[in-house]
Amino acid sequence: MEDLREKYLSLISGATDEASLENLRVQAVGKKGEISLRMRSLGKMTPEERQEAGPALNALKDEVNSALVARKSSLSDAALEERLKGEWLDVTLPARLARQGSIHPISQVWGEVTEIFADMGFSVAEGPQIESDWYNFDALNIPGHHPARAEMDTFYTYRDQDDDRPPHVLRTHTSPVQIRSMEKIGAPLRIICPGRVYRADYDQTHTPMFHQVEGLAVDTDVSMANLKWCLEEFVKAFFEVDNVELRFRASHFPFTEPSAEVDIRCNWSGGQLKIGEGDDWMEILGSGMVHPKVLHAGGIDPTVYQGFAFGLGIDRIAMLKYGIPDLRAFFDSDLRWLRHYGFNALDKPGLVSGLSR
Ligand code: PHE
Repeated sequence: MEDLREKYLSLISGATDEASLENLRVQAVGKKGEISLRMRSLGKMTPEERQEAGPALNALKDEVNSALVARKSSLSDAALEERLKGEWLDVTLPARLARQGSIHPISQVWGEVTEIFADMGFSVAEGPQIESDWYNFDALNIPGHHPARAEMDTFYTYRDQDDDRPPHVLRTHTSPVQIRSMEKIGAPLRIICPGRVYRADYDQTHTPMFHQVEGLAVDTDVSMANLKWCLEEFVKAFFEVDNVELRFRASHFPFTEPSAEVDIRCNWSGGQLKIGEGDDWMEILGSGMVHPKVLHAGGIDPTVYQGFAFGLGIDRIAMLKYGIPDLRAFFDSDLRWLRHYGFNALDKPGLVSGLSR
């Protein structure tokens, strides 16, 4: 019995994996195992012999069983230890700095503008990019023969020759959202609408697709002074400076009366664009008091209500703020350009945390 004990204990402690340990278990204490067979032979012994051999065999079986269990757990500890060595990770390492992507300057500025006007009580409205002739022109006091239709270099959709309905257009400005918002919300109302617009034009400061933010405030006592204040506050907040020089130039839009175009003082020299200084002016928006016919088209009584409206070029002010000289590069998807001018995706513009960092 002592031989059996030594044999199995040494085999068990020498086992190097769980499979060979299982073989040993079958060989020793399995149904036909060496120790099990010995126990079966107890029946053939004399009572005296049995009294001695019985407890000894039981003790041996227990000892072998516990040696098997102990070895099994130390083998699996060792396996775990080995795995952990391979899967080791230094949690004190700094986060990965290399940015995989970035926020496009247009999206950044879109967010900044929304943030500033939200603070002044404007909510965000939306409208379709493929717009009906009525919303894009007629409702805005631009009738069929009006030269402004030609000025806007409109993209028309295709209609069959025998279809005499006016074709839809790619909206040439965000102003149709004025009408849609008046219809939907009524008066009083205060909305901005950032979005894509389209015109057939292409040079350093024009692309066939660009972005505008429309602004519209309608109430019983809204004036041109309110418009001027809002725009000045906006421009200061947006450019993050105490003073920016604006020039309100008398102008004409069919949908506003009176109308003003607003320019910002800047400097184009040396290929670098600077705002607030220099002898150049860059037009950034069109504005005015909403024409009574437009209020009427939107279902609002022009004898009770009045409003101001403006349309601002998002791409323009992005170029000015971030010193981007060529508008066309915005839409080239050149990764080097995007890495240079893009913004960290985790820095959301906010009036408290800072608009741009
Ligand atoms: N819709 C005009 C444009 O695209 C801008 C504008 C909007 C002017 C609102 C006045 C009022 O040029």
